[in-house]
Amino acid sequence: MNVGIIGASGYSGEELVRLLARHPRARLVSVTSRSLKGPVVHALPRLRGFVAPDLLFTASEPAALAADSRVELYFLALPHGVAAEYARPLLAAGKRVIDLSADFRLASTATYQEFYAHAHPAPDLLAEAAFVLPEIMPDDAWKKKRLLACPGCYPTSVIVPLVPLLRAGLVAPSGIVVNSFSGVSGAGKKVAEDYLFCERAESAKAYGIPKHRHLSEIEEQLSAAAAEKVVIQFNPHLAPMRRGIATTIVARAQASGVEAVHAAWQQAYGHSPFVQILTAGQTPDTALVTGSNRVDLAAFHDPRTNNFVLTSALDNLLKGASGQAVQILNLLAGWPETDGLL
Ligand SMILES: NC(=O)c1ccc[n+]([C@@H]2O[C@H](COP(=O)([O-])OP(=O)(O)OC[C@H]3O[C@@H](n4cnc5c(N)ncnc54)[C@H](OP(=O)(O)O)[C@@H]3O)[C@@H](O)[C@H]2O)c1
Repeated sequence: MNVGIIGASGYSGEELVRLLARHPRARLVSVTSRSLKGPVVHALPRLRGFVAPDLLFTASEPAALAADSRVELYFLALPHGVAAEYARPLLAAGKRVIDLSADFRLASTATYQEFYAHAHPAPDLLAEAAFVLPEIMPDDAWKKKRLLACPGCYPTSVIVPLVPLLRAGLVAPSGIVVNSFSGVSGAGKKVAEDYLFCERAESAKAYGIPKHRHLSEIEEQLSAAAAEKVVIQFNPHLAPMRRGIATTIVARAQASGVEAVHAAWQQAYGHSPFVQILTAGQTPDTALVTGSNRVDLAAFHDPRTNNFVLTSALDNLLKGASGQAVQILNLLAGWPETDGLL
């Protein structure tokens, strides 16, 4: 299958180039940017040895990209709001789209407006869209959709541990508290005072409290799993690292021991190549998942508080973005789920 990447100069776009250039079945034929031109390997020297010297950046021009008959599927690694502007002509031209932005993750346009502070850019396209976190999909109905929304990085780190437990009633749906720590690449490749080396090195701080944008998709997915409205306390933090997300969740236990959590996770994820369930007191560590498409999970029961404490770690640019997008491509195309990801 011939594929293209729109917005390949950013952090997640660059990771997509790296993964797809060496993918055994997808052929990367189109790579775009407004700011970078010429050979990809010159503009992004980190990719030396990964991409062919003749792979060139072309302009991010929606009409021209829609008219490129070589490309069957495009990845959008663009800011939210912008992604919808590209999705429309690409879908109209019969392409499939895997979108890494938030534009098509939410079923509710009212929730989008509430959290993103502007009207949904393409409400008519939502009928064509599906939110796809591969490990929690109940069936294959999403494969019929042409617009696949890749989950966010924080949401993946929260939804994967909690969904099987909410589905099985092992944790109370109310009173859940989540603390997450993100590497600075989570903010994208932008120049802003908060992301300068001198501000972030040797420093960690909370931000986006109490209503970070990612709450919208986290609560939508958790509510579906619990079959009731779930509202959580979500406390994101910036941590002095380039990439990675570490998340700690506190939820009221509705089962007597941690074995019930392990059993539910095992049932949900025992066959998943990208979820590792840690036992024997180990805790997930961003340093151990960086560079992989894995999400590591661990659970503890605190008998003093009767809470379950669930922890997860993933690479925000892989399982939190580009790796997950390639995983979606693999499943959509009927290829082995791990193609290009191990
Ligand atoms: N970073 C993460 O950890 C992460 C995780 C999950 C999801 N995401 C989502 O993935 C998307 C990309 O994130 P990122 O971190 O890779 O961002 P980024 O580093 O800021 O890259 C954004 C890309 O979009 C292009 N772009 C920006 N404005 C544009 C416009 N108006 N028209 C056309 N192209 C435009 C930029 O390229 P040019 O300026 O060269 O055109 C650049 O290639 C975002 O929606 C983000 O929320 C990111």
